[in-house]
Amino acid sequence: MTWSDQQIRAWEALDLGPRWQRRTTESAVVEPVDWDQLRHQVASCKACALWQSRKQTVFGSGTESARWAIIGEAPGAEEDLQGEAFVGMAGQLLDQMLLSMGWHRSRDVFIANVLKCRPPGNRNPSPEEALACAHHLEAQLLRLRPKALLIMGRVAAQHLLGHEASIASLRGKTQHVRMGRATQMLEVPALVTYHPAYLLRNLDDKAKAWEDLQRFAELLAAHQCLP
Ligand code: URA
Repeated sequence: MTWSDQQIRAWEALDLGPRWQRRTTESAVVEPVDWDQLRHQVASCKACALWQSRKQTVFGSGTESARWAIIGEAPGAEEDLQGEAFVGMAGQLLDQMLLSMGWHRSRDVFIANVLKCRPPGNRNPSPEEALACAHHLEAQLLRLRPKALLIMGRVAAQHLLGHEASIASLRGKTQHVRMGRATQMLEVPALVTYHPAYLLRNLDDKAKAWEDLQRFAELLAAHQCLP
């Protein structure tokens, strides 16, 4: 649900806390801040228990002046070590996929995850962790204001689109990611594709991911985002 400013003020006037908290992934509490502030907020975050097991937070990689973004799930062991997104095996495949399209991770795209901390053992993020972390990704996207998103995998798709459809049913159709409110409102066309970690285990689906990249290039072209 998107809350209007008036509704938020009325709700806050009810003073229902601490028992009631407005739990929402939309950005009623997310103000536009600069990249340094965002980095600081992520690096010092203790909003869920993952801060206790992380080596470091993973803010995101690529360029903060990108016109489009890739959204993955959460840092793995290598990302936790290096503090960069998608630098393990899945990241190497992602780099190859980008390069095969003539795109470069450091020049063309901003890459971020739903979670900024590694879930131990690379388990899936819990809904509570995703919710606690949501404001970081939202603030990043509100700052970046990308023209298109490539969503990798089911966890990121569920989080950004708000429903539990399978990747197979989401692929191939332009989806819309909505966040923010009032003047900060952001609606971004997005395509969903397989996560590179899944592709490493399911080689036959690489051809489908390649089709998705072709379609995504068309989306970028339509929004004048091709390098
Ligand atoms: N998988 C992800 O979803 N993100 C990363 O940064 C690394 C692996």
